[in-house]
Amino acid sequence: MTQTLQPAPLPALSVRDLRKTYDTRVEALKGVSLDVMPGDFFALLGPNGAGKSTLIGIVSSLVNLSSGQVRVFGTDLLADRGAAMRLIGLVPQEINFNLFEKPLDILVNYAGFYGVPREVALQRAEEELRRAQLWEKATVMSRTLSGGMKRRLMIARAMMTRPQLLILDEPTAGVDIEIRRGMWKTLKEINAAGTTIILTTHYLEEAESLCRNLAIIDRGRIVEQGPMKALLAKLDVEGFLLDIDGELPAVLPVIEGTTLVAEDAHTLDLEMPRAMDLNRVFATLGESGIRVRSMRTKSNRLEELFVRLTGGDSPDGVQPAAPERAA
Ligand SMILES: Nc1ncnc2c1ncn2[C@@H]1O[C@H](COP(=O)(O)OP(=O)(O)OP(=O)(O)O)[C@@H](O)[C@H]1O
Ligand SMILES: [Mg+2]
Repeated sequence: MTQTLQPAPLPALSVRDLRKTYDTRVEALKGVSLDVMPGDFFALLGPNGAGKSTLIGIVSSLVNLSSGQVRVFGTDLLADRGAAMRLIGLVPQEINFNLFEKPLDILVNYAGFYGVPREVALQRAEEELRRAQLWEKATVMSRTLSGGMKRRLMIARAMMTRPQLLILDEPTAGVDIEIRRGMWKTLKEINAAGTTIILTTHYLEEAESLCRNLAIIDRGRIVEQGPMKALLAKLDVEGFLLDIDGELPAVLPVIEGTTLVAEDAHTLDLEMPRAMDLNRVFATLGESGIRVRSMRTKSNRLEELFVRLTGGDSPDGVQPAAPERAA
């Protein structure tokens, strides 16, 4: 019996040990590796200054890398920059079209720059402006567009070359929630039609509602990577250190859904789902003759990161307040 093995698909983006040190000596990327598979909707989540724009800048050839490797659908960025760039559409963090041009012209000229014939470009521009709900604004001065409209125009422009990989750097920064949701819908449509999407954001909510996979970057390093669901499950686990009266028994009780590990003879390390009733755990421990004298919340690296993502404090990190819980 013969079996044809399907070759594994090439990642839409493959980054290996990417490093970037700016002339100012800032080490913005300290060895980043990640893969984004074709068709994925991938979030690069991280606080201010994490290195998101630097990574995207390198992938889209706006920033030179210091070392490492970048491949776009198998094409090495350094070996064949032109070919790699033709596969990518970029929506940069800052609005960068000419405010004194009309949306239709902005799109058609952009496509022309990438060699798309004018007839094709005109047709695509109408399609893209309609999708962006900007068709009525096709010939107004783009300076008069609202902030949300300008952002949508940036996406429409990037789609003019029919990129296989669309990269967006904080596409919804500073946009109110209603407009943001509208943009999410557009991006989901683009992704459903087959375009791989990578976006950076510091809104967990945005990553959660859009993305299947994500990487979290902090201070130039990837600190978490994987499916969104797995990450949320991790955030859903709470850790405690329990101080025990007397000595722990040689064999610890098994409590379904929790992980119990003896730190030392008097301390138990407990991990349990957030929704679980702590009293049930204490009752089961009590049945095994284990009496808890006091407890401390174990700091959770991921949680600390999220406090910084959502709360915004010093980059050196402040411990989140331990939740009050009665023992
Ligand atoms: N052109 C540059 N020259 C020197 N340093 C830079 C330059 N661009 C970025 N940096 C520094 O590199 C680090 C990473 O910046 P980057 O813009 O990549 O972060 P980011 O994750 O996009 O942040 P934000 O969420 O604020 O956009 C920061 O310390 C930043 O000050
Ligand atoms: Mg940025």
